[in-house]
Amino acid sequence: MAIKYFENSKTFKLDTPNTTYLLAVVDDAYLGQVYYGRSLPDSDLNYLLRTQENPLVPSVNERETLSFYDSFAWEYPTAGIGDYRDAAFKVRTTSGHEVCLLKYDSYEIVSGKPALKGLPATFAGAEADTLNITLIEPDLGFKVIISYGVFSNVDAITKSVKVINTSSDTIYLEKVLSSVLNFEKPDCGMDMITLHGSWARERHMCRREIAYGRASSSSIRGESGHQDHPFLAVLSSDADEDRGDVYGMSFVYSGNFIAQTERNQFDVIRAEMGINPEGFTWRLKPGEEFQAPEVVNVYSSQGIGQMSRTFHDLYRNHLIRSKYKDMQRPILINNWEATYFQFDTNKLLDIARAAAGVGIEMLVMDDGWFGKRSSDNCALGDWVVNEEKLQGGLKYLVDEVNKLGLKFGIWFEPEMISPDSDLYRAHPDWAIQVPYRKPGLSRCQLVLDITRKEVRDYAYNCVYKILKSANIAYVKWDMNRQLADIGSIALDSDCQGELFHRYVLALYEMQERLITDFPDLLLENCSGGGARFDAGMLYYSPQIWCSDDTDAIERLTIQQGTALVYPLSTMGAHVSVCPNHSVGRNTPFETRGYVALSGTFGYELDITKLSDYEMDMIKDQTAMYHKYNDLVRNGDYYRIASYQENKAYDCTSVVAKDKSEAVVTFVRVMGIPNVHSQRIKLKGLDEKKTYRIEGEERTYSGAALMYAGINIGGLWGDFNGRLIHILEA
Ligand code: GLA
Repeated sequence: MAIKYFENSKTFKLDTPNTTYLLAVVDDAYLGQVYYGRSLPDSDLNYLLRTQENPLVPSVNERETLSFYDSFAWEYPTAGIGDYRDAAFKVRTTSGHEVCLLKYDSYEIVSGKPALKGLPATFAGAEADTLNITLIEPDLGFKVIISYGVFSNVDAITKSVKVINTSSDTIYLEKVLSSVLNFEKPDCGMDMITLHGSWARERHMCRREIAYGRASSSSIRGESGHQDHPFLAVLSSDADEDRGDVYGMSFVYSGNFIAQTERNQFDVIRAEMGINPEGFTWRLKPGEEFQAPEVVNVYSSQGIGQMSRTFHDLYRNHLIRSKYKDMQRPILINNWEATYFQFDTNKLLDIARAAAGVGIEMLVMDDGWFGKRSSDNCALGDWVVNEEKLQGGLKYLVDEVNKLGLKFGIWFEPEMISPDSDLYRAHPDWAIQVPYRKPGLSRCQLVLDITRKEVRDYAYNCVYKILKSANIAYVKWDMNRQLADIGSIALDSDCQGELFHRYVLALYEMQERLITDFPDLLLENCSGGGARFDAGMLYYSPQIWCSDDTDAIERLTIQQGTALVYPLSTMGAHVSVCPNHSVGRNTPFETRGYVALSGTFGYELDITKLSDYEMDMIKDQTAMYHKYNDLVRNGDYYRIASYQENKAYDCTSVVAKDKSEAVVTFVRVMGIPNVHSQRIKLKGLDEKKTYRIEGEERTYSGAALMYAGINIGGLWGDFNGRLIHILEA
């Protein structure tokens, strides 16, 4: 059992292969966080809670109760009692009060990891046990259950929170965060890493010192968003890629979130993560339950790199359910950057014909095939094939593409409605809006109120009917605007604050239906590029479009930031045309291929217009994909050099689990005159093994490749790259 309870010290000990998490019940009431870090044999380290120092616990020193509350390392701090740090939990009573205290009640340990109803979550059979700790509000009478999933094969501990209204009064939940961690600031100080960006610039890594006060990263956009990301790492300031203490928190959720640190008067840091309380309330009548989503906590004593590899292993083996996660995905060509809205059957078949000859395996028809959709101004919601464009219909097109030996994929944006659509003309009230204001547009569209069953059923059935009408192997599920004007005619006035979360639950329900009805479908999520690239969506789709920015150099930073948490097998990455449509940059075709090979791989260009040289390059690249993809999908990922940091070159590698093979991707960004070859020290190899570099005669020890390194030279010009294949000799 990875979970033990010690009655003498009232301590819970949670052990993963290399980490220990200790919790203790103090003064028979208060659940405190004692320790989280490297594995320890001890169970009783309760002195760390300092309850023997002044102030003592409330039963002994009632006079200074608030000093205790304001300094205790709460496992789950509540609002209003005199802990002046940010609380994880807040309720409002029907009389309008916002004070509550949660006291320890009981625990149970169950084997395995029960699913969270209606929510994505990591799963496990015998590889995890679950601890449920029940807390009770003694005066108001409701319960809170904190569940800890403790993995025996990976250094991850999940936390989720359920509120059960066992009282006889309605309560309003105003804040239900999912995980809180407490840290004492080490001598070297503590930093935090968060991911930030914008459309076409998603998930750039940002590291900063944790100073006094609060610092947060959050979304109130109704989705995780391009701008901030539901991830937080707290690390000692001397930690780097390979050394030092790093604590990662990743939210398995796709809506509004907050990830926050707070450093207080005693240099103690509280890190929190959960549903953003802004715009959130939830009415809980007697007998009702509320389940908050899961946060995955990962501790690494070996730097940021090990934290990433732990998340990758966990998400590959215990989050993504699609059968495609263990398969090479078909190499696709998507017509978006090739044609935008200007295409017809003949154009798509021309693309398919050219693609079939060079190793491409699937044609994806993007936006513009339905209703009167000839621009992004109209027709969302009218999911009827436009037969002026698709002469002969969808089935004819798909059959013709299949005859060429290619699979067929299609784009949808099911959550949306255009004001200029037949759907809106019939059901203007189906858009999310408040009764007293005309809702604002974004990309000329509104958001469907999918929290209403009839709306959700309509949107889902549109997708269902199209998928049943032809042999469709893949769906790109897009979402191109964020939520605003939050209001639903289906919700009571005291429940409007539930809409954001209900929206996410409705989305999950729709995607669950889709993958249940079409178990062989390859689903790729997307949101104006990568605005909903999060662990929640990976429960439904094994891959997510990383960014609308397909420029190879911009992608270096986007993909490194994404791979901080998510496996390479999940990152939608394509080769596109130059000058690049986002930045106007010209990069060599080879480099575009090397960078896209670190993801799911495909093309996003008009292949009918390429030169013979470029067509030959595609043949090479599609062969390279098959050669390296098993390694890229399953191996261990190492960041060796970051262009975002050094402004000169970028280097990452993927090493096979048995360390018999590695592939190294190196890109020198700007050419530099009179420059030495670049010394690169590889990572993750076996120092005792002997290796060779494909294409070279000589051999190297793993030790030499890692501690002495290799020189990479001969890259003349800007944006040149190299792929280096290391094999055990
Ligand atoms: C979003 C996606 C793109 C493309 C367009 C179509 O921006 O990220 O890849 O599908 O929508 O409108």
